[in-house]
Amino acid sequence: MIQPTVLAGLDDAVQHALATCDDSALNVLGYGEISVVLGVPADRPEYACKRLPVFSTRAGFDRYRQAFDGYLKALTERGIDLVESHVMTLDGGDGSVVGYCIQAVLPTESLGPNVLRAEQPAVDHPVLEGITSAIVKAVDQQVGLDAQLSNWAWADGRLTYFDVTTPMLRTQGDSWDFDVDIYLTASPWLLRGAIRRYVLPDTVKRYHNPRAILRDLCGNLIKERLEPWVPAAIQACNRHIDRPITEEEVRKDYTSDARLWEAMLRVRRADRWWQRKVRRRSYPYLLPGPIER
Ligand SMILES: Nc1ncnc2c1ncn2[C@@H]1O[C@H](COP(=O)(O)OP(=O)(O)O)[C@@H](O)[C@H]1O
Ligand SMILES: [Mg+2]
Repeated sequence: MIQPTVLAGLDDAVQHALATCDDSALNVLGYGEISVVLGVPADRPEYACKRLPVFSTRAGFDRYRQAFDGYLKALTERGIDLVESHVMTLDGGDGSVVGYCIQAVLPTESLGPNVLRAEQPAVDHPVLEGITSAIVKAVDQQVGLDAQLSNWAWADGRLTYFDVTTPMLRTQGDSWDFDVDIYLTASPWLLRGAIRRYVLPDTVKRYHNPRAILRDLCGNLIKERLEPWVPAAIQACNRHIDRPITEEEVRKDYTSDARLWEAMLRVRRADRWWQRKVRRRSYPYLLPGPIER
């Protein structure tokens, strides 16, 4: 396991990058929509460290950890093979908690998009078969899943899932069991009310709906520049559901998703500028550069 002092060193480097907007000392393995995945050590990464949004209280973090543990257990019980993941914490000062989810670094060629990119489209590809059956087997009103290709690895005939930092577990009510508001700190303060009210409930619902998740898997292939795989993926998905997914639906999803994320990113960049230049505060998230979609 990664040494606590090494993790503290990483977080110092992250703080420095946030303060200066210069992330050259970091090895960014991937940008998710919200988090950033950092390779440690930077020159020869062994660990993938995913910085979680900052928890303002220990109690908030404890609720998250409980949901995280419950989510891993639920996915495993439902037959999903998970990359081993640990959550570690650092003291953020003022009672706040900085959490990291730590995994071993997976070989680049084993990451889902790279696997498909290296091959010709085929409906029966084991990655498509594995992901689509995992979705219909694991997902229900209690357990959600973000099954996009970029969250899976394929090596030695084994499909593993690794995007576990958002524990999509609902054991009571319509919302997830942890305080979803921690993710809202990534959005400008002015927009949080609207996002909480209009965007979040819909987003949560989508991750518990097998058909919507399958659709999302297909649409996301376009973003990954794997458009030739779309027809095969749609067919693989349609083997599992009664109401077939159409190519038209998938394209529509892609366009509206791309627009939404692009707009969010633009707003976040503007917010970063406002916080840094006008309010003279550091902005607490690392943002990706321009994204090609
Ligand atoms: N363990 C890992 N080894 C190598 N790369 C990783 C690992 N975990 C994540 N990544 C890279 O970072 C990207 C985002 O990570 P992910 O866990 O999916 O977080 P997010 O919730 O931000 O999507 C992945 O699509 C992948 O490219
Ligand atoms: Mg992901």
